[in-house]
Parts: sequence; C-alpha cells; structure tokens
Amino acid sequence: MTLQLGDQVPNFTQQSTEGDITLYDYLGDKWGVLFSHPKDYTPVCTTELAEVSRLKPEFDKRNVKVLGLSVDPLRDHEGWIGDIEETQSVALNFPLLADADRKVSDLYGMIHPNASDTLTVRSVFIIDPNKKLRLIITYPASTGRNFDEILRVIDSLQLTDNHKVATPVNWQQGDDVIIVPALSDEDAKALFPNGWKTLKPYLRVTKQPNL
Ligand code: BEZ
Repeated sequence: MTLQLGDQVPNFTQQSTEGDITLYDYLGDKWGVLFSHPKDYTPVCTTELAEVSRLKPEFDKRNVKVLGLSVDPLRDHEGWIGDIEETQSVALNFPLLADADRKVSDLYGMIHPNASDTLTVRSVFIIDPNKKLRLIITYPASTGRNFDEILRVIDSLQLTDNHKVATPVNWQQGDDVIIVPALSDEDAKALFPNGWKTLKPYLRVTKQPNL
C-alpha cells in the first residue's frame, strides 16, 4: 500500500533508543515528524540527527514530536549515538527506532528497491494530531535534508488549519499569506477584520494572522 496525503497513518510498535514505542501513544494529540535514515554509522545521517537535536526546541514550540528511524539493531544505535555526541557536540534528545526487521520501513514504503535493497531512502512524514498524513518528502541517501524547510512546512500547515490561509512560494515567517480560495469574501470578513488585498478574486493577500 502506498501512503498518500490525507491517509490515516498506520500505527506500529517498534523498539527504540527510548524503549518500545507505539506511534499513536507516542504522538498523543500532538503533530509528528517521522523520518528515516539509510543506515547507522553513516556520515550524512550523523549530521542530520545532530541538527534535529539542535532544533528540538523549535519542534517543541510547534507541538511536534520527532521520531527517527534506522534499519539497524538497537545495539548499533547505542554505539552510534556516542559518535554523534562526540563529533557533533550535541546529545540525541529524541527516540530513534531500531527497525532491523524493517517492520516500519516496509509499512511506510521507506525502502525503494531500485535505489537500494537494504537501505532506506531519506523519507519525511508529517502527521497531524488526527493521525492524518500531511506531507511526504523523499530525499536520496546522499543528500542531507533541510530541517528548516520541515519547520517551515509545519508552520504553513498549522496556519492553514488554524487561520484558513495558505502560504505562497518561498514563504517565510512574517511574510504575507493567501486567504484559502474555499473561503467566501463574506466569511473572510469575520476572520480578517483588518482586510486583505484582492489581486484576483482567487488571489487575496493578507498579513500573517498569528503575529
Ligand atoms: C550517509 O548517511 O552519509 C549516507 C548513507 C547512504 C549513502 C550515502 C551516504
């Protein structure tokens, strides 16, 4: 089964560096970011896990729980975590699934056999509090991800859910946003009392509402 946006994500229980984790219990009513690493003791992954640890306060601020995955056993994870701390000067501060049996990797389609039979690709899944899948990104093993972009997407998704706005190309915090086309002008008046600029009936620009 291929997971698609809007699907309810499958639940699972798997070993992790912080004990067994059942996804739905781990997330509770928060947002989630589940992301895979091709293999333990690999250089790009080492830098990514460190960066997510550095950014953890930013994920916390947005009510997001992060969960990494690598298709190696727990004992390998434990040694690797020491290397991450030693080389990147930051301690891993979120759980890393030990998916040696590929239970989660297969469930979420993280192994792309024509890329590699054994390594996962760099998948990112953003999951909302209703356990609906809201974003999928797939990077090749040799390219480290941009986790600032993941935070940017979370900000955009939360703005859409909370304020009925969409975000334009290359949007960053504080930039103007777009009133979602599904909202009538009548309903928009109540939500955007300071008004908006109508460039076209389908392109209505307003200040970011949650500042
Ligand atoms: C890495 O994480 O550094 C990596 C993993 C697989 C292939 C290439 C690089």
